[in-house]
Amino acid sequence: MGGTARCAAGGRPGALPSRESDVLQRPSHGQSLISMLMDLAAPETRAAGLAELQSQGYLTPELQDVWTAELSKPRYTSRHLSGIIAPERVRIQKLLRQVGGELTAVKTQTVIANFSRALEFAGHGHRLEAARIRQSRILDFGSGVWSSLSAAIMLYAIGFAQADAFEPFPIGPDMVTESVFETIRWLYETPASFALLGGTPQEMKQRVAALDFTDLEEKLTRLNDGPGVVSFGPVRLFNNTDMMENGHYDLVCSNSVLEHVEDMPGSLARQREILKDDGVCVHTVDFTDHRAIAPDQDIADSFQMYYDGILDEVNGLRAGDMEALFILGGFQGATVHLVTAPEGYVDQSRVVERFAHYSLSDLSAAVNSYVLTKV
Ligand SMILES: C[S@@+](CC[C@H](N)C(=O)[O-])C[C@H]1O[C@@H](n2cnc3c(N)ncnc32)[C@H](O)[C@@H]1O
Repeated sequence: MGGTARCAAGGRPGALPSRESDVLQRPSHGQSLISMLMDLAAPETRAAGLAELQSQGYLTPELQDVWTAELSKPRYTSRHLSGIIAPERVRIQKLLRQVGGELTAVKTQTVIANFSRALEFAGHGHRLEAARIRQSRILDFGSGVWSSLSAAIMLYAIGFAQADAFEPFPIGPDMVTESVFETIRWLYETPASFALLGGTPQEMKQRVAALDFTDLEEKLTRLNDGPGVVSFGPVRLFNNTDMMENGHYDLVCSNSVLEHVEDMPGSLARQREILKDDGVCVHTVDFTDHRAIAPDQDIADSFQMYYDGILDEVNGLRAGDMEALFILGGFQGATVHLVTAPEGYVDQSRVVERFAHYSLSDLSAAVNSYVLTKV
């Protein structure tokens, strides 16, 4: 690689709800009640939210003034609405724990922060200037099966012209719906903490309010029927890359994905096609043994695969292999070493044959980011 840098790692229709439990039904059924309620929470989107409620039959025209007066009371601030939905949040987190998934605002923030930092370290910080990102299209490559849209929604909220997500495996429509709900809640509850790259809380809320999540769960369910894309406006979820336009993206980023890809040459070739000629890919690759972070596995060594030869849902490629594949795929770029095993951590004397030919530096790379441009 060219350069190297180092950094630390329903209420009843027509009736004003009288109890909190009437306010929110599980939002994923039928109408996009979630986005309507979120609209109601913010003063700047309230009128649109009320109009939408009316068009969906939740509100009669006669009661419009009553609702307007009621909703201007402090108890209907977004923070209060978030409090009402707390039990729903507990349910989501429980479900996610059961499936070993992860959904937290911190995770999404970390993903975005890592990718920004890698661009800056590699001398591409100018690509994140507010004026530029407003004209940039970004793709979250391998966005996950449980919270497939979270990063894309956040990226759109903070200012990208378009933020798409790509996940090739069948998604969990229920979980993805819930995670969209969670993402919007984070945004409304703590917009300042997501106001990265020049986005302002007010602008971010307005951008997310403009996304159309009508019939979200149904659309996500249909996506699992075959190759397709679901569009929410400037945020889309693809389950294949063939439907993407060539030369479309300014940025293709991934987090913890390339170590799972089976056909790396094929994947890189397609990434190169969908990227603009002056576009950039930012991939953060986790080279550690994923069993070490799985709650159901009793593995203490972050590189256990070196000693038992077992590859658990990873391709086993080491940093040097990845870098060679990038070059063969027509990319050049920089490596940002985010986490490296400390000296003495990897015991080369015990390494199984499959990993025996690697250098200590290759074996010690735990998490790297790669910033790639077309040659
Ligand atoms: C560890 S998860 C990371 C998900 C998400 N990027 C995140 O940070 O939470 C790895 C993801 O890579 C996806 N994946 C596996 N093979 C892929 C491929 N060939 N192309 C794109 N994504 C792939 C998996 O389906 C999974 O969603």
